[in-house]
Formats: sequence, C-alpha cells, structure tokens
Amino acid sequence: MSESTASSPAPSVPRTTAERIAAFEARRAAAHAGSERSIENQRKKGKQTARERIAQLLDEGSFQEVDEFVRHHNTHFGMQRNRPDGDGVVCGLGTVEGRTVAVFAHDFTVLGGSLAEANGRKIVKVQKLALKLGCPIIGINDSGGARIQEGVGSIALFAEIFRLNVASSGVIPQISLIMGPSAGGAVYSPALTDLTVMVDGTSHMYITGPDVIRTVTGENVGHEELGGGRTNNAVSGNAHYLASSEADALDYVRDVLSYLPQNSLDPVPAYEEPADLEESEADRALDGLVPDSPSQPYDILDVVETVLDEDTLLQVAELFAPNVITAFGRVEGRAVGIIANQPMQLAGTLDIDASEKAARFVRLCDAFGLPILTFVDVPGFLPGTDQEYSGIIRRGAKLIYAYGEATVPLITLITRKAYGGAYCVMGSKQLGADINLAWPSAQIAVMGAQGAANIVYRRDLKAVEEAGGDVEARRAELIQEYEDELLNPYLAAEEGYIDAVIRPSETRARIIRSLRALENKHVDQPARKHGNIPL
Ligand code: HXC
Repeated sequence: MSESTASSPAPSVPRTTAERIAAFEARRAAAHAGSERSIENQRKKGKQTARERIAQLLDEGSFQEVDEFVRHHNTHFGMQRNRPDGDGVVCGLGTVEGRTVAVFAHDFTVLGGSLAEANGRKIVKVQKLALKLGCPIIGINDSGGARIQEGVGSIALFAEIFRLNVASSGVIPQISLIMGPSAGGAVYSPALTDLTVMVDGTSHMYITGPDVIRTVTGENVGHEELGGGRTNNAVSGNAHYLASSEADALDYVRDVLSYLPQNSLDPVPAYEEPADLEESEADRALDGLVPDSPSQPYDILDVVETVLDEDTLLQVAELFAPNVITAFGRVEGRAVGIIANQPMQLAGTLDIDASEKAARFVRLCDAFGLPILTFVDVPGFLPGTDQEYSGIIRRGAKLIYAYGEATVPLITLITRKAYGGAYCVMGSKQLGADINLAWPSAQIAVMGAQGAANIVYRRDLKAVEEAGGDVEARRAELIQEYEDELLNPYLAAEEGYIDAVIRPSETRARIIRSLRALENKHVDQPARKHGNIPL
C-alpha cells in the first residue's frame, strides 16, 4: 500500500509477537499523541484535547475506547495522504460515579473535528451501544461541521446521528457539551439531546456563521454575539448551562447525571436520607415570606430551597426566561424536578420563552420518572402583540400538553397568585396533578382585582364619572370587594380543586409526606402511536 497516515507510523512489517505488540503500542501512542502544532493551537484558544476532556468527565481510569484505529477512505483533495487513526472523533464507554456512560468527543486537532462518514459511523456505533446498554450518552462537540472534502458521506451520517438522537430521546439521557465551534449540521444533534452545556468565551453554536450571514443578508455580527455561550444560554435558549471553564462544564454534566436514572425504565437515583419532619427555623420563616402587597415580589427560591434537601438545587437554563425556574433537586435523597414561577422576574408571568422552557423540563422529568414539584405565583400570560404574533397560543399550549401527558407524581403548591389560564397551566388539579396545596395567601381567580374591577364594574364606574363622583375612590372600593370575595384559596378548596390549605411552615413536611405517598403512582395509558404536541 502506498498510503501512509499523518499520525500513524510508517508500516514496517512486524513478524514476532513482541514486534507486533511494539508496533501496536507505537501506532496507538501516535494516534493518541496527535499533531503538536494543532494541540498547541487548541491550547492557545483555551481548549483541551478530546482525550483530556473525556478523562476529566469520567471516573479515573474508567475509559474504554472503541474504534481508535478507524480511518476514512476519502480520496478527494489529496485526502488519501491524510488518514489519521481515529479520524478526529474519540468514542467509548466509561463510568461517572460508578455508573456506565457512553461518550464521544470531536477532536478539533484532527481535521478540525469535522464530521465524516468514517467518524460518523463511530458516533452511531456508540449511540446504538448506549441504547442497547440503557446508559446515558454524552457528546463533546468541538467541530467545524461536515467535512468539506467529503461528498454526501458526512451529511448522510449527520442524518443518521440525528435519527439515533430521536430514537434515544426519552429512553436514555443524552447530554451535549459545546467546547469549541459547532456549526452547520453540528448544531442539530445537540438540539435533539436533553441538555446542552456551553463554555463561556470558547464555544460557539450557529447554523450559519458570521461570514455567510454577511454575504447573504449584509448583517455584521461577530462569533460571540451570534452564537457564543451567553447568547445561546440567555437569548435563544438553545443551551442550558453557561460554564465558566471546561472543568466547570464537565462538573455540571456529572452533577446532572446524578439526578437522572440510567434509562427510562430504571429507578430514579436515590440516597437514603430520611427527613426530620419537625418544624424547623427555615420552615417557620416561610410564614413571613409573602408580602402583604400583591405587587411586591419575593424570591420563590426561598420556598423551593426550604423544601429540598440542603444544597441540592441544580438549576437548568438559569439564564433563559428567568421568570420561570426549572431545576433538579432532592427530597429525602430522591431526585425531583422543580417548576416555579419567579415573582422577582416579570412578576412571574408566563411568556413564550417561559412556557417552552417549563414544558421541555416537565417532559424531561416525566420521561425519566422524576416527580415534579410545581410552585405557583403567576399573574397570567404576558399580554402584548409581540407575544400574540409570536404564537403564545400554540407555544403556551406546549406547557398544558406537557403537564397533561405527565404520569410522574405531580405536587403543586400555590403560594400567591394563580390567575386565569396560568392557573390551569401550572400543574392544576384538572390538568392531572395528584396533590394540590395552597397557602392562605393564595389568590385563585380568573384575574387580578384591578383588571376584574375595570371590566365587571365598567358601567358602575362610568355612572359615577357621569354623576361627577370620585371614580378612583369607587374603583378602590370595588377592587377591595373583589379581593375580599374572590382572591383567596377557599373557593377552590370548597370545590376540591385544592386538596389542602396549609400554613407555609407546614409546606416541607406536607410535600415530603405527599412524595412518600405517591412513590408507587402508576398510570396506564391507552395505546397510540404518539400524541401531537403543538410545536
Ligand atoms: C474539513 C475543516 C473543517 C471542515 C475546519 N477544518 N472545519 N476541515 N472540514 N468542515 C480544518 C481547517 O481546514 C484547519 O485545518 C483546521 O480544521 C482548523 O481550522 P481553523 O479554521 O484553522 O480553526 P479556527 O480558526 O478556530 O476556525 C474554526 C472554524 C472554521 C470557525 C470552525 O474552521 C470554519 O469556519 N470551518 C468551516 C465551518 C463550516 O462551514 N462547516 C461546514 C458546515 S455545513 P488545518 O489543516 O489548516 O489545520 C454542514 C452541513 C451539514 O455542516 C448539514 C447536516 C444537516
């Protein structure tokens, strides 16, 4: 054969066993070493190599590589003279906290980590392996996208990877890390996975880069502004965690895995940690949390953190739509999912972004068996033409759909406002929640007092105005009447839409007892191919 490789040694012909082993060692060492110049460039950009990242992600010494000698067969553009072992993707199995995971990592130091037919097959192989083993799969992306020197091979393999992402969705956890460029087709595998983590300053994700955008639309935008970690976390919501470094990103993924089962049939991870149900200082502090004025905000995380085991809150998509909080947590050592309106942001209203963020998280928890705790303080859907034109109707419906199809234990607590459609959406009894609780400060009604008074008493107020009376004084009176009559939890409790009105200080014990009771919840569903969630 006249072919040689850029990174593997020239083939001498080993004859003895010792020579064969030595030749194997030399070839493996060359494959692992990579090109010094490329690795140096990688480091200058603040990035590690694919193998360093895998070693940091997995338990020490647990990585078992597969396909390290796979090479491409492309002969276009002189590629037959550049056939590195491994072909720019490192794949295999390992463990995280002793639990098996599959992993693949694009190696940017080899042909820009570009996806080709050969290394695409490697990824598909570990995807299939992960599905067969029922273990999570983690993809580390650092790639220039489809290998430009190839014809259809690379893009065909992208499609196959996507199909495996879809087949794995809801069966095994799939997590993507973006640790460099992720351009073109390379963005869609992460988008199809459960969670995407980006590193601040060194990762970029976009369909078309700044050059293409400039050519096609004339728009001038830089890499960071277009698709940096912050943009994808805070603006588009494509990513769910903005890591300060590669180590931070890998730590976050290890953390996330500790909340998820190996697959949809496995039990949720749990540590034996029975709670002390005696009322604590933190429990009692909740009695004073909700301000007297309904327009004054408070931090819903104070409630959430009181209920959860200490230091177990792990937010997902913290920078996107902060008016709703989505997070993992633990109660008595068992993983749960949290959905909570945040009155500190946009008064806790539900807008399109918040609805989609919450809907996706509900579905993630439901797919992997995590009970969902919902904390409600929501004045309604965000009004405005921007929201209406952008599809708040169909996109808000996703959250209804997500709760409506969820079969995991659902516990909902209304701390204050639960108005109108937003009441229905946020894990209401009729949408399928198992236990619905409310604090005495809960206000469950079609709308807030201000809006209600203006609509219901419009004629009354007009008459006062025409008679030259004090309209504002009358309005205040009517608002007070409405508040006194309707804005409380008791009308809902009288109808059984709320199972119990509780003191805030009783919340933690009540939720813990409810979770214990719901542990064996089981729901049979009629057969169907799949539902048709509004997209
Ligand atoms: C082959 C590639 C490559 C690619 C990078 N390289 N991308 N080789 N195919 N797609 C190679 C470079 O030639 C270079 O090789 C090495 O990787 C490092 O790249 P640099 O450009 O020096 O690195 P950097 O300056 O960091 O820029 C990174 C980059 C840029 C922003 C990713 O390389 C780039 O724009 N690449 C092309 C991106 C792209 O358009 N991809 C195709 C998308 S289309 P040497 O030998 O010089 O070290 C697509 C369609 C799929 O993906 C659709 C499926 C749905």
